[in-house]
Amino acid sequence: MKNKKLIFANWKMNFSSEQARVLVESIIDKLNKLELLKGTALKIDAEVVLAPAFPSLSFVSSLIRHTGISLSSQDVFWEAKGPYTGEVSPSMLIDVGCTWAMIGHSERRQYLLETNEMINKKVLNALSQDLNIILCVGESFEQRRRKNTFEAISDQLRRGLRGVTESQLNESEVVIGYEPVWVIGSGEAASVEDIASVHNFVSDELKSIFPTLKSLPRIVYGGSVNSENIEQIASLSNVDGVLVGNASMDCDKFCDIVLKVVK
Ligand code: 13P
Repeated sequence: MKNKKLIFANWKMNFSSEQARVLVESIIDKLNKLELLKGTALKIDAEVVLAPAFPSLSFVSSLIRHTGISLSSQDVFWEAKGPYTGEVSPSMLIDVGCTWAMIGHSERRQYLLETNEMINKKVLNALSQDLNIILCVGESFEQRRRKNTFEAISDQLRRGLRGVTESQLNESEVVIGYEPVWVIGSGEAASVEDIASVHNFVSDELKSIFPTLKSLPRIVYGGSVNSENIEQIASLSNVDGVLVGNASMDCDKFCDIVLKVVK
């Protein structure tokens, strides 16, 4: 899958199971009409991943079975089991059909005070259970203003990936999600110049962290991706896909994004 573009829908804390059902069924129906999904399976050169909130995972899993669409959580805990009230382990996620876990989203860093050390433990725990992960990194507005973007991202990458081995990367997928915090939910994505330059930087960092790895983790962009800017963003040679928030919660907008990525 590593050479395919990844289209990752992060629904954040939205939708009842009934709303999730309506959205998933409309997406499947629309992808069918667009001939991106024939019969029951995706027929495109891209990977589509849906990340509903925890309570809808199991239900969404049953709706997308056999479609080729994959399922992700929006978080995972760093222990395998035990007295950790409110937390969810990798094996629980795998049990309900997840093949992916999102780790280190900036909203969790901001509101749950997740540190790079906590994120690193989550990364290592997920990989030990062969769960694919999308590790989110990105600079804040203040870091950007102070021209500390590369420093902040380097820190998040190096501390987030500490202890990850090249052989783990050959067994499970690690994807880096670059999400500049200041554009998330703003309606306006970062400029293509900024995206290209940060993706190049992330790629150089990954080469330095994993010097003998043949196939580097994919790097996807997130932050106000929509059906108007997707073509420009997806056409950048160092963008391996997109992480979509708001626009992924609207069937027409999301399917339009999928269509524009694959055409
Ligand atoms: P928006 O697309 O709403 O900016 O959200 C991006 C995001 O946080 C995806 O993880």
